[in-house]
Amino acid sequence: MRDEFVKVALGDRSYDVHVGNGLIGRAGAEIRPFLARPRVAVLTDETVAEMHLEALQAGLAAEGIGNVTLALPVGEATKSWDMLERTVEWMLEERIERRDVMIALGGGVIGDLGGFAAAILRRGIRFVQVPTTLLAQVDSSVGGKTGINSPHGKNQVGSFHQPTLVLADTGVLETLPRREFLAGYGEVVKYGLLGDAAFFEWLEGNGRSLVDGDLGLRTQAVRRAVEMKAEIVARDETEEGDRALLNLGHTFCHALEAATDYGDRLLHGEGVALGCVLAFEMSARMGLCSQEAPVRVRAHLESMGMKFDLADIPGDLPDAGTLIDLMRQDKKVVDGQLRMVLARGIGAAFVAEDVPIEVLESVLLDALGSS
Ligand code: NAD
Ligand code: GLY
Repeated sequence: MRDEFVKVALGDRSYDVHVGNGLIGRAGAEIRPFLARPRVAVLTDETVAEMHLEALQAGLAAEGIGNVTLALPVGEATKSWDMLERTVEWMLEERIERRDVMIALGGGVIGDLGGFAAAILRRGIRFVQVPTTLLAQVDSSVGGKTGINSPHGKNQVGSFHQPTLVLADTGVLETLPRREFLAGYGEVVKYGLLGDAAFFEWLEGNGRSLVDGDLGLRTQAVRRAVEMKAEIVARDETEEGDRALLNLGHTFCHALEAATDYGDRLLHGEGVALGCVLAFEMSARMGLCSQEAPVRVRAHLESMGMKFDLADIPGDLPDAGTLIDLMRQDKKVVDGQLRMVLARGIGAAFVAEDVPIEVLESVLLDALGSS
């Protein structure tokens, strides 16, 4: 099976995303051309270190590249000021220089934190994303959003810092727990729903085999998702316009994540998938798309064994008014007006200004009624 390549076209900051099986073992050859000297800093988490660090180190050693490694605790709490300080001070202690390269080996937590640490170390060093979750392969490793959380909210501190290279090794997804894989699949579905009806149809036909482990299908799905993200990021790197489309389902998702304390009751990708159902339901009620569209989205998630109803979130949820208040904290709110990504059909999302609160409330009341 051959590797796939996608270019993120950003002028002199353009870079390639390689998608394929076994890329970690070939990382040395892939990264070598970017190195001023044969030494890199590797940031990872403890779980990923146990499963995949040795393969990466062997791939680097095969090209004579030495490494220093820091494995941080697992989990969202790692995207913190404390861990950022620890990472930056560690790289300084290890004498990582301005022309050196850091490798972020892990999911979105390590990619976001590592990218931000790379952005501020000695006013910016280059970094390579080696994403090991499906979510990180199709979303967080591409596009240059980096950062940490603050007591004031998720991703409130950060910068745009594009990687130099992304190596998405679809083979490492074999060790990903099924729930994490399906959460990442929520982001994959999002791409079809926002801009490619044929891709959504392809997922309806191939989703089950893909989740059950077909490497060829996994590689194709990651490649198509990355291609779509790359096109959008090239058009709108800093989210002045079109990039907001990538947030389909996210306004609902962020409110649900906040309502469940960002805990294990709801993973981010699960919330995105649920949020897509609600965004399509809302679009249908506003007469923007057919009534069949939300039914089809829900049916696909159900057939994949994913959460598709608010009732699938364990425990109690707050009432519709509280959820709407949480939605008003969204980064897309401008001058107090709630903006959301809605759709004119499957594959036809757009950013809606000033959404009618009464429709939103009725969608949430009905969704909560069935929970
Ligand atoms: P994560 O990094 O916490 O990884 C999820 C879990 O999977 C962790 O326990 C991790 O140790 C484990 N893991 C990772 N790879 C594995 C593998 N191959 N085998 C077995 N276990 C593995 O979470 P995530 O879902 O990858 O990323 C979520 C983060 O991404 C959030 O912080 C979110 O804000 C961020 N994000 C960023 C962007 C962006 O554009 N920068 C986009 C979407 C999400
Ligand atoms: N994950 C949304 C974005 O990168 O813009």
